[in-house]
Amino acid sequence: MSRTHSPETAAPAAPAATPEGLSPLPNGLGWVVSSRSLTVRLLGDHRLGVLEPQPVMAHLVTKLPDELHPQVDEIAAFAERVMLQTGPARHQVLRRAFGGFFDADAIEALTPELRRGAEDTVRRFAASGGGEFMTAVAFPYAVRVGARLIGFTDDDYRRLHKLSQQVALVAYAARLDDPAEAVRAGHAALVRVREIVAAARAAAPPASVLGAWHAGTLDLSDEDIEANAVMLVQASLETVSGMLGNAAVRILGTPGALADAASRESLLDEALRAEPPLKTLERVVREPFQLDGHEFRSGQVISVRVADANRLDDDPVAGRALFSFGWGAYRCLGARLARHQARELFQALHHLAPDAAPADAEIERVRHIRFDMPRRLRVVCSPPAADGASLTRALTDALEEEDLDRPLTSLEREVTYVVLKENGVLVPEDLRGPTTIREWVTWALSEHG
Ligand code: HEM
Repeated sequence: MSRTHSPETAAPAAPAATPEGLSPLPNGLGWVVSSRSLTVRLLGDHRLGVLEPQPVMAHLVTKLPDELHPQVDEIAAFAERVMLQTGPARHQVLRRAFGGFFDADAIEALTPELRRGAEDTVRRFAASGGGEFMTAVAFPYAVRVGARLIGFTDDDYRRLHKLSQQVALVAYAARLDDPAEAVRAGHAALVRVREIVAAARAAAPPASVLGAWHAGTLDLSDEDIEANAVMLVQASLETVSGMLGNAAVRILGTPGALADAASRESLLDEALRAEPPLKTLERVVREPFQLDGHEFRSGQVISVRVADANRLDDDPVAGRALFSFGWGAYRCLGARLARHQARELFQALHHLAPDAAPADAEIERVRHIRFDMPRRLRVVCSPPAADGASLTRALTDALEEEDLDRPLTSLEREVTYVVLKENGVLVPEDLRGPTTIREWVTWALSEHG
């Protein structure tokens, strides 16, 4: 005899087991994702959204005196325009408008600048016999490329990086003892940010983001361009420096790899996969839904652990896809540029510092909630032998003088010392002999050639 249960007598359905690769955040706040298949499914699901600033700011104003509300509104209006913090409709418009700075043609046009930046940075590093890679190579090179792309000077880029972090801190102000003070500081930083961007706009090279804005060829409001130009500063510093540092550990630490373009490429991939510069991707559940019987509630946070999702296990999901540049609609616009930067940098190291190698067996890493990169990476290499043609070019460029036989002024002599030092040639203080570019190069070759 078959037995059927009426609804009343049926045992209550057991709660669905939590899917593999999903673990809870404390206090029902949300979920941590560590599997490839869940990463693909969740980051492609329209019921999840990026973290938008409005709810945080609306909560913050409840903790502030009335006179500070306009300042919070201004900060919120700025943050809402940032592409990575806007909902699907606005996001698409912004992404399309900025996409042209990152396509294959744009990167090809930027390549001579990337190469010059890489060679200048590495030449200085090699001339000193190496040094601390993160502060002497990775960060300065990331600054230089990011600044040229957007249209800032290196100094402006660095200043904006600091100031915009201060603006971003306002999002955490409600948790502080003195939220009003954090808002005042954040607002003052925003005012300064706007002044720097406005001044840089007029002087920016035509092919840069600010240059296109100045020429009127970017079809967006001034406020949209301003906010996203500043966002690009935030997006391109720690990420690129982290990638370069992580790749350097592998490439410089593997005998023979620096000299071989294919090894450099595969070690760069390995580094991006195992040590993603951005450790997590955050989303928020916009509307409740179920996945494999598991319930995601509105407002819950989803945090994808990128290194875990990158792991190539038996799960054949999305081929060998790498999640280090994100996935889905908000995937990194700068991924192609970043890889290109890495290629140019390691190519320059191969040419100018071929024996570069880590100085320490153990590499100290940063302890940071978001970033994964070396904290310090000491590298040693032999200073390059002086080469006549490149020394002559470096001096004629720096002195803006093609006549190799004109005696140099005392000021030009000072510039010559600096240029020679950058090329690995130290001039003794008591040296009196050379007076022209040709004589300086002859002397340098006899000493260091
Ligand atoms: C190795 C270097 C880089 C890494 C690891 C990286 C990583 C990422 C990741 C993971 C995202 C997605 C975040 C999310 O979905 O929540 C992202 C977005 C973005 N990145 Fe990158 N990034 C790098 C370099 C750059 C550079 C050099 C630029 C520009 C100069 C850039 C511009 C952007 C932009 C504009 C977005 C937002 C895209 C959108 O909202 O549609 N990134 N990046």
